[in-house]
Amino acid sequence: VLVSDSVYGPTRKRVGANLLQRAGVEVTYYDPLIGGGIDGLIRPNTRMIYMESPGSHTFEVQDVPAIAKVARDRGILTVIDNTWSSAFFCNPFSLGVDIVLEAGTKYLCGHSDAMIGTVTVSTEEQFQALKAMQNTLGSRAGPDECFLALRGIRTLSVRMERHQKNALEVAAWLEARPEVERVLYPALPSDPGHEIWKRDHTGASGLFAVMLGEAPKAAVAAMVDGLELFGIGASWGGFESLAIPIYPKGSRTAVPWPHDNPMVRLHIGLEDPRDLIEDLEEGFARLNAAK
Ligand SMILES: Cc1ncc(COP(=O)(O)O)c(C=O)c1O
Repeated sequence: VLVSDSVYGPTRKRVGANLLQRAGVEVTYYDPLIGGGIDGLIRPNTRMIYMESPGSHTFEVQDVPAIAKVARDRGILTVIDNTWSSAFFCNPFSLGVDIVLEAGTKYLCGHSDAMIGTVTVSTEEQFQALKAMQNTLGSRAGPDECFLALRGIRTLSVRMERHQKNALEVAAWLEARPEVERVLYPALPSDPGHEIWKRDHTGASGLFAVMLGEAPKAAVAAMVDGLELFGIGASWGGFESLAIPIYPKGSRTAVPWPHDNPMVRLHIGLEDPRDLIEDLEEGFARLNAAK
């Protein structure tokens, strides 16, 4: 299995290392910017390419159609984690992908109150194989979770549009701050993945990262700890804004993350963006005071 180096951490640790490698499946990580060059990594035993785009924490946008084309030509299955866009902003089937995963805990439910995920397949054969495996493992979404996900989907479109509007406003403000070296958000024209994102997605969700200038961990903690409207949390995609310090350096193997700068991942919720900016402004004051 070829897996993007930018996947969500537990995909690497739990699925890659714990499950697949222990079961004898060889896992090779690839540069998320590899595009059609993935052809060079394919070996006789390659069965699947697992993508996530934009990547967790580092937000590289993959050339999904180029990867999917190589895979199709070589008879290899492609899977993508589409949680960032949700089905509302990206349809990976139209990009040539075979199987789409989404952590429904995030935008589908939208209120951070249910445990559910989705796997959408493109053929009856895949469906039967998945169903058989699900029966064997006994993993099921509970009825309450299904109810909450179905209810969330009713407001998905309005929430996604609002996440995008708010996130663009906050990201543009952050880009102009002296404490910020880079905002990693494909919807910004300055982002290296912007053109591919624009080609393959119809919008951007509320999750991005901010690379700060040099600052001790304690100063970043002071900034994040004191935020009033942003909770500190890992599972994003709900109505509320979240902030969490991230250090991607330790989690890459194919292409080491070259930056030592502290980063903060933000999820921009449905609050008034002016309030979020005010909150962040006070956060920067704490960061500067603790430097
Ligand atoms: C990109 C991505 N995929 C999948 C997941 C898994 O979500 P959950 O543990 O809620 O299923 C997460 C969680 O943060 C994520 O960020």
